[in-house]
Amino acid sequence: MKLSVIGAGYVGLTTAACLAQIGHDAFCSENDAEKLSKLQNGVMPLFEPHLEGVIKAVRRAGRLCFRSTEEAIAWGDAIFICVGTPPLANGDADLSAIEGVARAIGKRAAGYRLIIEKSTVPVQTGAQLRKHLSVHSTNGLRYDVASNPEFLREGTSVEDFLHPDRIVIGTDSPRASDLLREIYEPIVKQKFTCPIHSSCPKRQGPIFLATDTNSAELIKHASNSFLAMKISFINMVANLCEAVGADVTKVAQGMGLDPRIGSSFLNPGVGFGGFCFPKDLQAFIRIAEKSGCDFSLLREVEKINQGRIELFVEKVRRELWIVRGKRIAVWGLAFKPNTDDVRFAPSISLMKALLADGAAVRAYDPEATEKARAILPEVTYCSDPYQAAEGADAILLVTEWDEFRHMDWKRLRSAVEQPLVIDGRNVFNPEDISGKGFRYVSIGRLDALPRQLSEEKVESSSFRAGNNAQEVTA
Ligand code: UDX
Repeated sequence: MKLSVIGAGYVGLTTAACLAQIGHDAFCSENDAEKLSKLQNGVMPLFEPHLEGVIKAVRRAGRLCFRSTEEAIAWGDAIFICVGTPPLANGDADLSAIEGVARAIGKRAAGYRLIIEKSTVPVQTGAQLRKHLSVHSTNGLRYDVASNPEFLREGTSVEDFLHPDRIVIGTDSPRASDLLREIYEPIVKQKFTCPIHSSCPKRQGPIFLATDTNSAELIKHASNSFLAMKISFINMVANLCEAVGADVTKVAQGMGLDPRIGSSFLNPGVGFGGFCFPKDLQAFIRIAEKSGCDFSLLREVEKINQGRIELFVEKVRRELWIVRGKRIAVWGLAFKPNTDDVRFAPSISLMKALLADGAAVRAYDPEATEKARAILPEVTYCSDPYQAAEGADAILLVTEWDEFRHMDWKRLRSAVEQPLVIDGRNVFNPEDISGKGFRYVSIGRLDALPRQLSEEKVESSSFRAGNNAQEVTA
């Protein structure tokens, strides 16, 4: 089928590339002229595992082109809208880019088109799109509108697109529903050449769930808000573990064994970031508010997340006593591993707080350095984790990139000024790191406490630790 994808961000690029990979012909458009020209010249504007390889292959096969928005709109039988919906100051999603696309489609497209909203949008956006398409339509355009929310995670977006758990479509039109089934048939039947696996681990196709448009739109916001709630929940449990002397890893494990709860998204840490959870949560709260529903539960989820950095900085202050003038290494800048995205990344708020406290910050990330540098040029960016640790009074682990799991601790021990690791993602085994001669502090774990202190805590649950570092010599 001839498919157009409007917007070449994470979602649009992955969608266009994967639709071409499963056999369709795709035009992907981008309004930003510099980004469009990069893509036309084979330069990736972002880092996403497997995406560059897929794009190269489908372009070589002549199934994907990067064109202007006008050309893409005029070409496709179905048009996927994948433009940004950033947050406004009041938390609402800014839908002006979607409105702009609707206007352009109304002016340029003729005949029948299926318009698919894939960007994350508030409920009832489909109804607005329908209305505006009819207002702006000048060429006798006939159309259906469908919602097809994406559940792609950055870092695994190609895999998530090709091997999803579910495909959700929301439309009131049988024709639109049939077209979407046709578009996704290779994925539902798992019949395509997989660019990632020689033998795909998930052989069973996804559930294809068809709903009305409003429900599909709500599924996306409700899913992301629920996952954010799980993270804030376990972060509060971690606080409680620190206060009473318990181990959040064990608590999460015990909870997750109940299939009704599940073990994923129960990793405590410095909080959730990225361009989806924080903004989708805000937007969902606003949608509820405007619809007269008091979803204050989600305001708490947001508040807990906003407090994570301050709690983490408190740990730093507690360990270093005086932060001013100290050299602090920050390992990991991206909001999660395997991406170069630093939007709403915990690392950025953390580094701002450390700089405000007078620390000299030396940061390292395998992919996100340039994007972080554009936001915080006053940080010293290093080319590897050892360089960042040079002369450091503390190493703070903020993003759990795999390479941090394979460090030469002997080398690090001689590079640092003070052997202190504060782990914001509970990546390390406390005994391992302590055994290398480092003081180790993590999040909500009993074994990050000095043994004697942990025993006292079990006896007195109201006791709050003043210093939860473990000091062990090599
Ligand atoms: C999310 C949704 O997972 C995806 O379905 C949707 O389409 C877009 O938003 P993404 O933002 O790429 O995807 O990242 P995700 O893996 O969900 O992680 C979000 C944030 O939560 C990250 O900052 C991550 O570090 C944090 N997180 C995740 C935790 O702090 N603890 C966890 O247990 C899981």
